[in-house]
Amino acid sequence: MTNFYREDLAYIHDVGFRDYALNCAPGILDILNQNKVCKSLVVDLGCGSGLLAKELIQADYQVLGIDISESMINIARQRVPDANFVVASLFDVEIPPCNAVTSIGECLNYLFDPNNNHQKLAEFFSCIYNALLPGGILIFDILEPGQLSQGNPSRNFTEGGDWIVLVEKEEDLKHKILTRRITTFRQVGEYYRRDDEIHRAQLYKASDIAEKLKKVGFQVQISDSFGRYNLSKGHAAFVAHKTVVPES
Ligand SMILES: C[S@@+](CC[C@H](N)C(=O)[O-])C[C@H]1O[C@@H](n2cnc3c(N)ncnc32)[C@H](O)[C@@H]1O
Repeated sequence: MTNFYREDLAYIHDVGFRDYALNCAPGILDILNQNKVCKSLVVDLGCGSGLLAKELIQADYQVLGIDISESMINIARQRVPDANFVVASLFDVEIPPCNAVTSIGECLNYLFDPNNNHQKLAEFFSCIYNALLPGGILIFDILEPGQLSQGNPSRNFTEGGDWIVLVEKEEDLKHKILTRRITTFRQVGEYYRRDDEIHRAQLYKASDIAEKLKKVGFQVQISDSFGRYNLSKGHAAFVAHKTVVPES
């Protein structure tokens, strides 16, 4: 559907950066348990390659995964044949009635969908609130401003057996936009294939997000971890409840 997380970067994210989803999953399952979210449908927005979906299915939830990247969804379908996956923007998709919505890995920050902005995010929270059944829960993370010290650009690389990824990051402090210039090399046969992507992410202050959630009726908890897994600096974890309205 879009030109982001194409085949090679989707593969590299899946094999090289899976720890984030796998480390968040136990804490997310605990939150669902503690809040007595019944074992029914969880909608995972920005599901990527289906890592969290697999953990949810194994814990007896049903899963609908949505992702804007066709290559990510291709991997997810192979990994979790028992879940349903759709290629779509999380800002466009109609969210079915459900007990829980999850979205981890900065999905709400990405500007892959050009419609993503403060206003769209507020509308999106309202749609989720309406889709959630009473007692339902929204669990997600966001990336905050201040990713780079004094806005200085950074460069790093990560490598695996048959790939390497080079990332240059730059933060526009005024507009709160993080740009990642990503170059991948992936071994295909005898040679390494190169691809380049540029990802832009709108950085949101946790307090601004909390305000938007409260405005549509959610009760909000902000944390720096999912369970025992501490998020890295500049990430915030949200658990937003649609409380049951007591009968009068
Ligand atoms: C860093 S990855 C995280 C994937 C997965 N949640 C995980 O933790 O492994 C971010 C994902 O968000 C997806 N994404 C970004 N913007 C999106 C949008 N507007 N609608 C749907 N998916 C989106 C990307 O395609 C990508 O798969």
